[in-house]
Amino acid sequence: MRIDILTLLPEVFVYLNHSILQRAQAAGLVDIRLHHLRAYATGKHRATDEPPFGGGGGMVLKPEPLFTAVASILNDEQVNAPPPTPAPAHPIILMTPQGRPFTQSIAQELAQHERLLLICGRYEGVDERVRQHLVTDEISIGDYVLTGGELAAMVVADAVVRLLPGALGAAGAAETDSHATGLLEGPHYTKPATFRDWKVPNVLRSGHAGQIARWRRQEALRRTWERRPDMLLTAVLSEEDKWFLGQLAAGEQ
Ligand code: ADE
Repeated sequence: MRIDILTLLPEVFVYLNHSILQRAQAAGLVDIRLHHLRAYATGKHRATDEPPFGGGGGMVLKPEPLFTAVASILNDEQVNAPPPTPAPAHPIILMTPQGRPFTQSIAQELAQHERLLLICGRYEGVDERVRQHLVTDEISIGDYVLTGGELAAMVVADAVVRLLPGALGAAGAAETDSHATGLLEGPHYTKPATFRDWKVPNVLRSGHAGQIARWRRQEALRRTWERRPDMLLTAVLSEEDKWFLGQLAAGEQ
């Protein structure tokens, strides 16, 4: 997979050069390329932003550098052609608090693509024609406003790359993540078996695979019921799961 990131702050993306993301790049699973928006701006000052028409505070990212950059990065003249033009082959995603809320299922959807282009907004926003005629998707990482889309682009890149086959050490580790199963994950324990009088549940040390799997499932249900009951409305539940939730609701577990 290839992920292109268009930004005015390429230097802040050092996070992508560590740990799993770094290993995934070294192993050739993903090629992450940073592009400085200013390199595509023209004029003496290479301006990438201007004050908004109609007045008001802040600055707005200009359309021309963004259109030129995307066309150049995707090597696609269609982006600069007048409408009607065919939809671009690869997702062109604007990071913005107005976008669709990012979830694990969106990460899974994006991980299927051969290429992604993430555009980091800055200042007060981007010229509306970028939304209307350039990007194919808009993503928000939460209901709060950041100073720019860079952190959001790193969040999306991280969540997508760890889903690529081979990116995580243990095969299948991403499949049991919180959210991947539609439930929150239950508790995890490691050595020592007793720490300050607090013991690891006996079942986890029993060596009984069937009982351990059942306990884990029930603890995932319990945690989801306690913390995110909304997720139970869409989770895929077995008859046994439903029985266990009934027990929880009746205060019997
Ligand atoms: N840019 C600023 N705030 C953002 C958010 N919450 N999500 C994505 N991009 C952003």
